[in-house]
Amino acid sequence: MKNLTLGIFGGTFNPIHLGHEAMIDAFLKAIAPDKMLVIPNAQPPHKEISHLATEEDRLTMLELALADRACHIDRRELLRSGKSYTFETLRSLREEYPKDRFVLLVGADSLLSFEKWVHFEEILNQTELAVFERGGISGGEDEPLRKEAKRLEEKYGAKISLIEARIPSVSSTIVRQRAAAGMDLSDLVSPLVGEYLKKKNLYLDPTEMTRQKNAYGISLPDAENLAKKVLSPKRAYHSLCVAKMAGQLAEAAGTDPVLAAIAGCLHDLYREESAESILQKADKYGIVTVDLFSLPEALLHSKAGSRLLQKEYQICQTICDAVDSHTEGAADMSLLSEILFVSDAVSEDRTYADAPFARELAKKDLHAATAYIFDYMTETLGVRMTENSKNGAAFYARSRAK
Ligand SMILES: [Fe+2]
Ligand SMILES: [Fe+2]
Repeated sequence: MKNLTLGIFGGTFNPIHLGHEAMIDAFLKAIAPDKMLVIPNAQPPHKEISHLATEEDRLTMLELALADRACHIDRRELLRSGKSYTFETLRSLREEYPKDRFVLLVGADSLLSFEKWVHFEEILNQTELAVFERGGISGGEDEPLRKEAKRLEEKYGAKISLIEARIPSVSSTIVRQRAAAGMDLSDLVSPLVGEYLKKKNLYLDPTEMTRQKNAYGISLPDAENLAKKVLSPKRAYHSLCVAKMAGQLAEAAGTDPVLAAIAGCLHDLYREESAESILQKADKYGIVTVDLFSLPEALLHSKAGSRLLQKEYQICQTICDAVDSHTEGAADMSLLSEILFVSDAVSEDRTYADAPFARELAKKDLHAATAYIFDYMTETLGVRMTENSKNGAAFYARSRAK
């Protein structure tokens, strides 16, 4: 019988993310193993705090992420009790595959400290190694890696393949941090894993939820649920897209992404409520600061909505202010207001011809995007500009000219 090549990739996968998936794909392509084993590590029991993922969760996410790939998820380390060392796993695999070729996928950092691994010489006797060059094509950064690979080859007869590939720089730590705050994970994990994380509230941190509730009046997951409960599916989807964009723009601007994402979830909360109902509520809560009756109906959901968010749901003033100006804009907006105004115009669900351009512009230069959107409102949409919009347009055109 022909000897097989067995690819081996071990890790905690807490959770599996797009970086892991890209590594597996590049490994399958470069090494073309006959069988690819993905081996989740056991974790010490104390790590399994309630809001963290259990072994079962980690396994399910691996299955979801790898369903379409020629991978086999091997549970031997989970079945064995206590910490598993790689040499032990390789020994047990050797019993099953006495004559076959093993190629172990390891990270660049692991290779650089390989002599610290328990029984590393035995490992090098049993298996070849495959490592990704970090910079992919860039030479300089990978120099230490190449040198170390060469040294291990010369000293121990190791066989090491260096694989060039673009691996997105995602880590499980970043996924867990963002998930703890209830933030969007779509650029970090594949869609099915993201859905699973959300459905099971994995990594969501109860302490952080309390902090958000105290600081903003609502937590991000609750704001999402509120949008889904109050709005039609289409409008709720729009709101979640705005939330995602606002979070990204806030991160890029170095300001609080959770605050921005909550504002995104809530900005259109009154968009589908009738003028009559909004005005009744305004009356009930004694909202008299603006002449709501003389407002164009399209502005009611922002101008009255901002005040109702505060009265009905005790949402913090910063968010209410941003909701207030999200439709017409204004001169000299706060950073959050500007982020919301822009996000509403460039969110992923917007399909007008210039949307992709405006989206890219927003990520690079927020003020320029604001100016661009005012121009677009006037020239392309032919919107009759309100006083606030005119002032906003003039203000941001000036700031662009500087
Ligand atoms: Fe709106
Ligand atoms: Fe909107």
